[in-house]
Amino acid sequence: MKRIQKSSFKKTTLYVGNSFPRPSFLGKDVIIIIDRKIISLIPGLSAWLSNFSAVYRVTAGEELKSLDKFSKHMEKILKMSDSLSLSKLKIVAIGGGSLGDFAGFVASVLKRGVGLIHIPTTWLAAIDSAHGGKTALNAGKSKNQIGTFYPAESVLLVKKILMGQPLVRGREAISEMVKMAFLTKKRWASSFFKSKLKDNRLLWEFLVDAIKEKYDVVERDPFEKKGDRRVLNLGHTFGHVIEAYYGLPHGRAVMVGMNFAAHYSRQKGLLTEKEYQKILNLLDIHSENKDLQLATRRGKIDKKTFYKLALRDKKRSKQSKIIFIFFKKVGSVVQREVDVKDFYDFAKKQNWVK
Ligand SMILES: NC(=O)c1ccc[n+]([C@@H]2O[C@H](COP(=O)([O-])OP(=O)(O)OC[C@H]3O[C@@H](n4cnc5c(N)ncnc54)[C@H](O)[C@@H]3O)[C@@H](O)[C@H]2O)c1
Repeated sequence: MKRIQKSSFKKTTLYVGNSFPRPSFLGKDVIIIIDRKIISLIPGLSAWLSNFSAVYRVTAGEELKSLDKFSKHMEKILKMSDSLSLSKLKIVAIGGGSLGDFAGFVASVLKRGVGLIHIPTTWLAAIDSAHGGKTALNAGKSKNQIGTFYPAESVLLVKKILMGQPLVRGREAISEMVKMAFLTKKRWASSFFKSKLKDNRLLWEFLVDAIKEKYDVVERDPFEKKGDRRVLNLGHTFGHVIEAYYGLPHGRAVMVGMNFAAHYSRQKGLLTEKEYQKILNLLDIHSENKDLQLATRRGKIDKKTFYKLALRDKKRSKQSKIIFIFFKKVGSVVQREVDVKDFYDFAKKQNWVK
């Protein structure tokens, strides 16, 4: 494995390799928590796993993050840890974002905190969720409301795992990379926008650059206290609304959300016509037109549902303001507080709501 950098609050080291790491690289006293579905999907993974005595197989997805089920998981994981050295104990999370959120939480509370290594198996996890230290469980319908900040000591990006994903997953994940490229003026972002590579190859080529970008943002606001980290929500405010309403995959909803943000920014006078057109053109390259036509095909969102979805992350139900991330130009965004009514009015103008 090639060491790329030590970053993110000087805690996480990023490694890149073509295949699975040597078992000794992870350490002797490890509990592997793995998405059972991928064991048969990734050639050689099953044989590699036979090197480890403690392998906890789980079914990935939101159910895995259920607070109700957590104690049952913990009992089994504790039993596995009995024969391992506490001082060297590590959890190795092999899976997508849901597994990473769960295993990260386990590592943060097991015996008051043990080592954590992420080996992300989805693009979303590789670009986004394995970095930055957020762990999460769901309490009833409240998604991600139970959690800790617990950065992994290492994140391993394994080409064989990530490139083996179906192309459609790559297409869904590209929006996170487009988003990271929109947040910076660094050279990698213009190379990314100019690249002729497609899907999985494009994602692999710029993966480390996009991750380093996320580390830069996270380092400015590691515990989400100052608000700097909110720029990572570019495209997410409107994206979350349509993800929930139309059941669109997260990545595709964020792409539509960035398109919405470009129009909204222009309306607010934050974008020049030239920059506005530039952003729309860049989004067009990676967008699926059919997503933008959803509103006409499946019907517009009613006012009450729109408000509910727009305000769902708010802690106080009476709150009527949201923080929206606007474009200023390619490579620069700004966060502004807007009234949810203003957000609704603009969505209506854009024909998304009744
Ligand atoms: N902690 C964070 O900062 C953060 C950020 C964004 C999202 N998230 C969380 O991430 C989760 C979504 O992540 P996700 O999209 O990776 O979902 P996921 O972990 O639920 O995986 C989605 C599906 O892909 C399958 N899968 C995993 N690896 C595969 C592979 N290599 N090939 C084929 N199929 C594979 C899984 O079995 C599952 O069916 C959500 O729970 C979300 O809340 C966390």
